[in-house]
Amino acid sequence: MEPEDHADSELYGRPGLLERWCWSGTKNMTTIIAISGSLRATSFNTMLVNAAVAAAPAGTTVEVGSIKDIPLYDGDLEAASGAPPAVIALKERIVAADGLLLVSPEYNNGIPGVFKNAIDWLSRPAADIPRVFAERPVGVIGATPGRGGTAMAQAGWLPVLRTLGTQLFTGGRLQVGGAGKVFDSSGALVDATVRGLLEAYMADFARFVAKQRSPR
Ligand code: FNR
Repeated sequence: MEPEDHADSELYGRPGLLERWCWSGTKNMTTIIAISGSLRATSFNTMLVNAAVAAAPAGTTVEVGSIKDIPLYDGDLEAASGAPPAVIALKERIVAADGLLLVSPEYNNGIPGVFKNAIDWLSRPAADIPRVFAERPVGVIGATPGRGGTAMAQAGWLPVLRTLGTQLFTGGRLQVGGAGKVFDSSGALVDATVRGLLEAYMADFARFVAKQRSPR
């Protein structure tokens, strides 16, 4: 069935779903945009993003998004001039992708403010939440030099992702601890066990994303 045939179907009016279906009708690849929640040049989470790109299964492309140029959320700034260009650009990249992968550090057993700030901007204006987030397949992974593997931060994302109406991937977990030994000084993933876990996670997440983008 051609994507156009869906114009009057039940998909119409389900925010984001028709758009994703039309888009998927024009391509075979599943696209996932992965975003690191750290601004550090030598961020372990950015290294994990890059490793996820390399670990993408056949038929899946992992693109890299950045929160680097997103300012602190300011309601006055928004009221005066709307969302900043970096927010608009990242939003459109998320909309164009089939799935979203948040690669989150953990700060004080929670979500880093800089990453939450970016998601908060991306949720503005609220009328755009359905288009950007609703029913969008989302996964959360993370890396830390500590032992906890960002488990607490990953749990911290749950109410946020539920509020935004995403389809949270719960079919696997990737909590990378001891990151100082998992990646080398050039940022390469050198731990074979973690690489295997990452490949398994990406395969399962990509399958979940592909399934979610199919019409239901
Ligand atoms: C941390 N770090 C940290 N790690 C952890 O596993 N659990 C935690 O609760 C915290 N808390 C925390 C608070 C603050 C303010 C900072 C700056 C750091 C350590 C953190 O995991 C480490 O700095 C990572 O390297 C951060 O991720 P990136 O920047 O390497 O991606």
